[in-house]
Amino acid sequence: MNIFSIETSADETAVSIVSADGDFPHATYSILGNALYSQIKIHEEYGGIFPSVAKREHARILPPLAETALKEASLLTECSMELTQEKTEVLRELLYREPDMTEAVIELVTSYEKPPIDIIAVTSGPGLEPTLWVGVNFAKALSLIWDIPVVPVNHMEGHILVSTIQEVESQKSKVKSYEIPQVEFPALALLISGGHTEFDLMSDWTNYERIGQTRDDAVGEAFDKVARMMGLPYPGGPEISRLAAGGRQQDLPEFLSLPRPMLDSGDLDFSFSGLKTAVRYGIAGKELSETDTQALARDLEDAIVDVLIKKTTKAIEQSGAQSLIIGGGVSASTRIREVFKDHFAREYPDLTLYIPERAHSTDNAIMIALAGHARVDTALTPEAARNEIRADGNRALSDA
Ligand code: KG4
Ligand code: ZN
Repeated sequence: MNIFSIETSADETAVSIVSADGDFPHATYSILGNALYSQIKIHEEYGGIFPSVAKREHARILPPLAETALKEASLLTECSMELTQEKTEVLRELLYREPDMTEAVIELVTSYEKPPIDIIAVTSGPGLEPTLWVGVNFAKALSLIWDIPVVPVNHMEGHILVSTIQEVESQKSKVKSYEIPQVEFPALALLISGGHTEFDLMSDWTNYERIGQTRDDAVGEAFDKVARMMGLPYPGGPEISRLAAGGRQQDLPEFLSLPRPMLDSGDLDFSFSGLKTAVRYGIAGKELSETDTQALARDLEDAIVDVLIKKTTKAIEQSGAQSLIIGGGVSASTRIREVFKDHFAREYPDLTLYIPERAHSTDNAIMIALAGHARVDTALTPEAARNEIRADGNRALSDA
């Protein structure tokens, strides 16, 4: 089965072509094509994602990105086709908010034969609703023209699945192949990204119970907001990581004593907004030297890692989890990866820890293909997809 997947929930536009050999979760996944365009440079000047700009960029870049991914997968055969009047009208109606994308889609589908794609997987939430709609409408358009069913994917389920996959030897040269391992349940998923910080207890694949979450900022948001206060570019996570590594290497003394919010709250919830406030007061009126920023970045990372480790330990104790799956953009953090690996190997040797390949930590379309495959039974026909799939900024995992 060839899966064409689309991701536009935030500031990464991504399309991939993944072939799945076998049924979920016993399939082998081969990455035939993978194209990703990061808008980070564009949003840097705003210090965060600017939704209307992100939406326009997704619409501009999606059709050429799709062409790139399909070409990489060698699934395009040039031809010259006419689109019927009827299909052209359907397209214009569907994409009336993105007229430029309409022309680019018409160009794409009339320049090549219908590619051998079996299913389209598209992120329908959670995320920024205006940007999600661009991906959803693009999926609907291709689905109607090529007559291919669509699966609306939960972005967070994608993060979970891509964390577990293990690379296996590939049949084809230059193509990476992966398998989903035999994960032992119950499994605890810790999702840490720019918009989410939560624990989901999984009794099995695709079966979630949320047992804890942030009451205010997400971890990634805390990194991004503090970084902004320190005058660092967006997104702050990687910048803080880089500076913190310097601070740690030089073993700099503590710059700021930061709180460990909610450690004794008695539940599995988080709160990170207090860190922002503590840093704001801590640096008010001060001119930060390079060393100060390194020490502060390290202090922030330490506070966050401390809270994550302790809460995760508590969640494991409470739930009896056999496996721990960490997913989301913040799992790219070197410090978080190292501390989690060390700590849980030492304290819970029987627990299996899954952390995504660094390149799969932040948003991508491979994760969307995996989640699409896991939910292939929820695929909708082109007509049904057109009428029923909606972007849902708050889509929860429990109703994935
Ligand atoms: O999952 P993701 O790509 O997008 C969302 O779904 O939110 O996560 C993005 C978040 C941003 O807040 C970014 O600062 C953070 O992940 N991030 C990191 C690192 N790389 C990305 N945080 C800490 N250390 C990193 N190396
Ligand atoms: Zn994400």
